[in-house]
Amino acid sequence: MIKTNKMLAIVKDKKKVGATLKEVDIPVISVDEVLVKVEATAICGTDMHIYDWNQWAQNANIKEDLVMGHEFCGQVVEIGEDVKHVKIGDRVVAETHIPCATCYQCKHDLQHICANMKIFGVHTDGCFSEYAKLPEKCAYVIDKKIDRKVGAMMEPIGVGVRAISEAEVFGKNLVVIGCGPIGLLTIATAKTAGAAKIISTDISSSRLNLSKQIGADITLNPLKDDVIKYVLNETNQVGTDIIIDSSGSVPAIIDGFKYLRKGGVVILAGLPSEKAEIDLSVDVVFKEARIMGIHGRRMDDTWTKMKSLLENNKLNVIEVVSHEMPLSEFETAFDLLKKGEGSKIILLP
Ligand SMILES: NC(=O)c1ccc[n+]([C@@H]2O[C@H](COP(=O)([O-])OP(=O)(O)OC[C@H]3O[C@@H](n4cnc5c(N)ncnc54)[C@H](O)[C@@H]3O)[C@@H](O)[C@H]2O)c1
Ligand SMILES: [Zn+2]
Ligand SMILES: [Zn+2]
Repeated sequence: MIKTNKMLAIVKDKKKVGATLKEVDIPVISVDEVLVKVEATAICGTDMHIYDWNQWAQNANIKEDLVMGHEFCGQVVEIGEDVKHVKIGDRVVAETHIPCATCYQCKHDLQHICANMKIFGVHTDGCFSEYAKLPEKCAYVIDKKIDRKVGAMMEPIGVGVRAISEAEVFGKNLVVIGCGPIGLLTIATAKTAGAAKIISTDISSSRLNLSKQIGADITLNPLKDDVIKYVLNETNQVGTDIIIDSSGSVPAIIDGFKYLRKGGVVILAGLPSEKAEIDLSVDVVFKEARIMGIHGRRMDDTWTKMKSLLENNKLNVIEVVSHEMPLSEFETAFDLLKKGEGSKIILLP
C-alpha cells in the first residue's frame, strides 16, 4: 500500500523564522499507534508562532526537526498490534492533547489537561505531511460524509463546542470577544445551541463581517463603538449572561467584566500574553461572576457532541475556511495569515 518509506513534510529545521518542505521518513508506529494518510490539514495560531519562532515558540520545548501542524483529518493505513478500536480504512481526526494515562487528571476524566501532556505537532511530529502517526487514544473516527475542510478543523471546532457546552447558552445573551477562527467557531456553535442574542466584538471589520455571516446578531468594534454601553443597552442595562473570550486581549476582557450581568459566566479561551488587573471585589465577588478557563476538548465528551452535530448537519462552519491550497504553498499561506487576510487556511498534501 505505501510504496516508499519517504514522504514530503514541512519541517521546522531552523531556529528562526520559516520552515522547509522536504522529504523525510514516513513515521514508524508503535503497538498503540495508528498511521494516517493525511487528507487535509489546517493552519492554527500555534503553527504561526512556531513558524515565526517567536518568544513563546523558543520556550515551548519544541521537538528538533519538528514536522509541523496539528489540525487534520485522514485515513488510517496501518495500525499497531495493540490497537483495538480503530481499523485500517477508518477516517479519523486527531485530539492534539496526548495524555499520559497515569496522572491524577487522567484518572479522573480530565485527560485533556493531563499533568504530563504532550502536544501533537509541538512535542511530537505533526501533520503538515503526507502521513502522520498518533496514539489510538487520540484518534477519533468520523463519518466519510464530513467535508475534508471541516474534518481538518475539528480540533479548533472542538474548542468552540467545549466553550458552548460549559456555558449553557440556550435562551441566553452571549458576547464573544474576538472573531478569529476560535471565536467564529464558537459563534457558529452558539447559534446551533440556541443562544438568544449573540454579540461579537473584534477590531477587524472583515472578521466582524464574517462573524455576522456565521451567526452573530450584533457586531461591535471597540476601536469605534463603546462596547460596554452598547452591550448594556442591548441587555436592558442588566448585562450579558455569558462572555466567551477568544481574543486573549486583556483590555477587552477587563471591559467584559463591566458588561457582565450579576451572576454571569465568563469563559476564557484566548491566551493573553500579559497579566490582567481585575477588580475582584466589584467584578467577581459582588457580581458572583463564575470564571472558567478552558484548554482544549474533553475526551470524549466534546468529541462525541461535535461529531454528532457535524454528522447530522447541525453545525455550519464551512465559512470559517478562507483558502484551500497545496501543502507546497505553505509560505503563501503563512504570509496571508500574517497579513490578516485569511481566516482558516486548509493545506492539501
Ligand atoms: N484555550 C484553548 O484551548 C485554545 C485553543 C486554541 C486557541 N486558543 C487561543 O484562542 C485565541 C483565539 O485563537 P484564534 O486562532 O481565533 O486567534 P486569532 O488571533 O485569529 O483571533 C483573535 C481575534 O481577536 C481579535 N482581537 C484582538 N484584540 C481585540 C479586542 N480588543 N477586542 C476584540 N477582539 C480583539 C483579533 O483581531 C482577532 O481577530 C488565541 O489567544 C489562541 O491562542 C485557545
Ligand atoms: Zn490548533
Ligand atoms: Zn496524565
